[in-house]
Amino acid sequence: MLLIETISDLQKKIEQARQAKQTIGLVPTMGALHEGHLSLIRRAKQENDLCVISIFVNPTQFNNAEDLEKYPRTLEQDLQLVKDYADIVFAPSAEEVYRVPPTEQYDFGPVAEVMEGPARPGHFNGVGIIVKRLFDWTQPTRAYFGEKDFQQLAVIKTLVRQCGLNLEVVPCPIVREPSGLAMSSRNRRLTEEERTISANIYRILKASTQLNTTNTKEIRQFVENEIAKYDLFKIEYYEIVDDETLQPIADLNDSNGVVGCITVWANNVRLIDNIRYK
Ligand code: PAJ
Repeated sequence: MLLIETISDLQKKIEQARQAKQTIGLVPTMGALHEGHLSLIRRAKQENDLCVISIFVNPTQFNNAEDLEKYPRTLEQDLQLVKDYADIVFAPSAEEVYRVPPTEQYDFGPVAEVMEGPARPGHFNGVGIIVKRLFDWTQPTRAYFGEKDFQQLAVIKTLVRQCGLNLEVVPCPIVREPSGLAMSSRNRRLTEEERTISANIYRILKASTQLNTTNTKEIRQFVENEIAKYDLFKIEYYEIVDDETLQPIADLNDSNGVVGCITVWANNVRLIDNIRYK
């Protein structure tokens, strides 16, 4: 495993790999790695000749200074965790990544205008900026993204289509704690008690798939009421959407693929999760 900190060193290695006709799998991350990340990394290693992961807490996608400041940074541990799978770990500084200032403006259209869009202004543009730059520097054959960030995945697919990039976006299933809580780097900021209570988010989402109705207003009402029973939680949104357009639907029968996406604050920690209805 090679740790690389500059764009030019990365590009040299990528050029060698391309000369040798190697396939390249890229897993972009912000570090504080857990089993969710590792599932993507193992898959990238299996399916490609060269497995590249990036670890970079990207300031341009944070619209909350406290969230950026408190975001866990655990590079030494991360390197230990990935050493058996990653061929290259690209862990640049913010100065290196933004030597060219981040002035790109993307318009991802409707997929970015719901849920996280209005809740986190500028967030998806920041994600687009870093992911497009990583694609340019790494020239991946395949890039791996988790379904935990369901809307992010839709935004990345849109980015690839809009920019006409020749790479495959590979969606990977959500990895959960035994309790059902979706794994997240931010879970490290929960106390043990908060972590236990937060498992109810997934319990409630699962229960909402068993209701005797296809009316999404009723399903949303159920989820909102159940979440409200916990003092720890403050719900930001729960939307039931088409799995491609990400637009809310009125009835489960209105679409062939339907996902419910939730954001809940557990005190000052922002947790996101989702569940498939069909
Ligand atoms: P980060 O939150 O570190 O996540 C990196 C990748 O791991 C994302 O594709 C995310 O969806 C996936 N992931 C996280 N938790 C997961 C889980 N429990 N199960 C499955 N996959 C999971 O997402 C980002 O970083 C950033 O926005 C990034 C794309 C790196 C751009 O900065």
